[in-house]
Amino acid sequence: MKIAVLGTGMVGKAVSGRLAELGHHVTVGTRDPDATRARDGEWPTPVATYADAAAGAELVVNATNGQATLEVLGLAGAANLADKVLVDISNPLDFSQGMPPTLSVKDTDSLGEQVQRAFPDAHVVKTLNTLNADLMVHPESLGRPSSVFVSGDDAEAKAVVSRLLAELGHEDVIDLGGIETARGAEMYLPLWLRLMGSLGTPRFNLHVVR
Ligand SMILES: NC(=O)c1ccc[n+]([C@@H]2O[C@H](COP(=O)([O-])OP(=O)(O)OC[C@H]3O[C@@H](n4cnc5c(N)ncnc54)[C@H](OP(=O)(O)O)[C@@H]3O)[C@@H](O)[C@H]2O)c1
Repeated sequence: MKIAVLGTGMVGKAVSGRLAELGHHVTVGTRDPDATRARDGEWPTPVATYADAAAGAELVVNATNGQATLEVLGLAGAANLADKVLVDISNPLDFSQGMPPTLSVKDTDSLGEQVQRAFPDAHVVKTLNTLNADLMVHPESLGRPSSVFVSGDDAEAKAVVSRLLAELGHEDVIDLGGIETARGAEMYLPLWLRLMGSLGTPRFNLHVVR
């Protein structure tokens, strides 16, 4: 599949690299491709502007900073997102008041819903925001199955994303429901942050036993 991964942080690197290893045609989107190459050296996948990356893709992954997500997707262009699956991994973490970060949207709204409202023609699926970048693409490294979630209004888009999650090795994908259920996945972050502090590592995940 032709996939654009927007964002060049830990998540963008991990997800773009693994999807390319799995045989997908991946282009990474960034604000300034030359600056990104100068910073990181050559990338294993092509690097383009957000708009160019999204234009050539069948499926787009948002792996950008939560405070910049709406701006970045605006740069990618609504027309380049229309009728496409938009996998949203971002979290609305606000570090402006120091650590631990707070959520800039919560309770009655979520970043996933804000993205869906801003880009109504895209099929937004919130997923993978509840675990560390390395575990997103190598869940087997925990040595036992763990759980991930999908939230979105379009059943077909969630099916496409669930197949991609299976390719990445996720054995337990829980469909939470419509995009408003992204509130639950995003509001897990305050607990995730305390768990990381207590365990001293980001290498852990939920396993929902039922
Ligand atoms: N790190 C994790 O393990 C993890 C786990 C779960 C979820 N998440 C979520 O996944 C997303 C990506 O996380 P990350 O840790 O890879 O990276 P990040 O530092 O949160 O940001 C990722 C990218 O956002 C882009 N960006 C565009 N405009 C920006 C602006 N105005 N200010 C800051 N960044 C801007 C940058 O890409 P360019 O410079 O290339 O444009 C940057 O590399 C975040 O929303 C995060 O909350 C992260």
